[in-house]
Amino acid sequence: MIDRRNLLAAGALTGIGAMAGAAPRRMARPAPVDPRFPQGFLWGAATAGHQVEGQNVNSDVWFAEHVTPTVYAEPSGDAANSFNLWPTDMDLVRSLGLNTYRFSLEWARIEPAPSEFSLAMLDHYKAMIEGCRARGLNPVVTFNHFACPRWFAARGGWSNPQAPELFARYCDRAARHLAAGIAYALTLNEPNLAGVLQELLPGNLLEADKAMTAAAARALGVDHFEAGNNLSIRDPAATQAGLLRAHKLGRAAIKAVRPDLPVGVSLAMLDEQAVGRNSLRDAKRERYYGPWLRAVRGDDFVGVQNYERSVWTDKGKLPPPPGARTNMMGAEVYPPSLAGVVRYAHAVTGRPVLVTEHGVGTDDDTIRQWLIPEALAELKRAMAEGVPVLGYIHWSLVDNFEWVFGYRIHFGLCSLDRATFARTPKPSAHLLGRIARANALG
Ligand code: BGC
Repeated sequence: MIDRRNLLAAGALTGIGAMAGAAPRRMARPAPVDPRFPQGFLWGAATAGHQVEGQNVNSDVWFAEHVTPTVYAEPSGDAANSFNLWPTDMDLVRSLGLNTYRFSLEWARIEPAPSEFSLAMLDHYKAMIEGCRARGLNPVVTFNHFACPRWFAARGGWSNPQAPELFARYCDRAARHLAAGIAYALTLNEPNLAGVLQELLPGNLLEADKAMTAAAARALGVDHFEAGNNLSIRDPAATQAGLLRAHKLGRAAIKAVRPDLPVGVSLAMLDEQAVGRNSLRDAKRERYYGPWLRAVRGDDFVGVQNYERSVWTDKGKLPPPPGARTNMMGAEVYPPSLAGVVRYAHAVTGRPVLVTEHGVGTDDDTIRQWLIPEALAELKRAMAEGVPVLGYIHWSLVDNFEWVFGYRIHFGLCSLDRATFARTPKPSAHLLGRIARANALG
């Protein structure tokens, strides 16, 4: 189990980082046409259940965190205790000046055993949706953000031929309880990377993940354990087929309950750039995004999550240019990458784009303070060119459980004191809030 997007970067760096040469810098960007954003633009911050709630004990990820051997640096434990402190989180989002909060439902809480649905947990998430509305926040709700019920992983996770129907059944039940108040729904988070990432990873990491997965299967007495965020995928084609169909059936289930609710999926996208002749860029794009960008053409919008760019020659990926600002993983922080993927996603799908995640893992908040307005200026430029963008949701509201890296990598607009659960806004939080309040770049 792993943070797939971080490892995409890490894997690419490990695999071909020795290549000579440096990624090109783009020409200086002209000022944005108009600093104002359209009325009704969504300005938000995001979290995901397992990463902030704490004690998600019936989930596959919790199980993998505690199995021996595990690839997790540490267990998620109480996380940010957002299961109890969600009103604090929402007050924070509102006080910063944002109008949108993205969070996820935890399937493992709602359906802790197959077909046993918990009314109490559905009520919990209903209270969260109503809590958003009471504060004037648009709830953007992810039905599944990587973590799944342990029983689902013990049946092979997304590779199980029954997985799409099981997911659709959960979506139907959750939607009947919750859909009325949701502003935008996402079925899955970053499903496009499942099973393809392992091609890029260093062998030792892959082997460690396989050992963990095998240990989890042994402990549960099953043939195959595949968690929602598994890194080693036994049959990538089956898992991808399962996820594509799960999105389709999940979306249909939600739409059947509330046809006017916009439903989409969020895709992990790097800004893939081509250099020279016969660049590997287009092959990379097809492999990582092609099937999903085609699949979402019938959706109401496409959710885009971006953190980085990749620059491809005919031989591989170039390393960051000398002097580039980098994140905690050593990857380049490149502000125009967000607009790059937004333009591409819209060009291929024809759908409006919702930026469901964008941010940086760093302990240096000045990098975040630089990234946000720079990226938004280029995003606004793309919008002026005609790309419909519904909103910008920053990852993350608060430093949280960064999957396999535990609490060591910090993406938050707010820091977290793990002893008191106090959240403290960083300067970047106020900066994003000022832009949101003005609905314009300063
Ligand atoms: C995921 C988050 C993760 C973030 C930062 C995205 O890949 O949706 O769960 O924490 O990136 O790595």
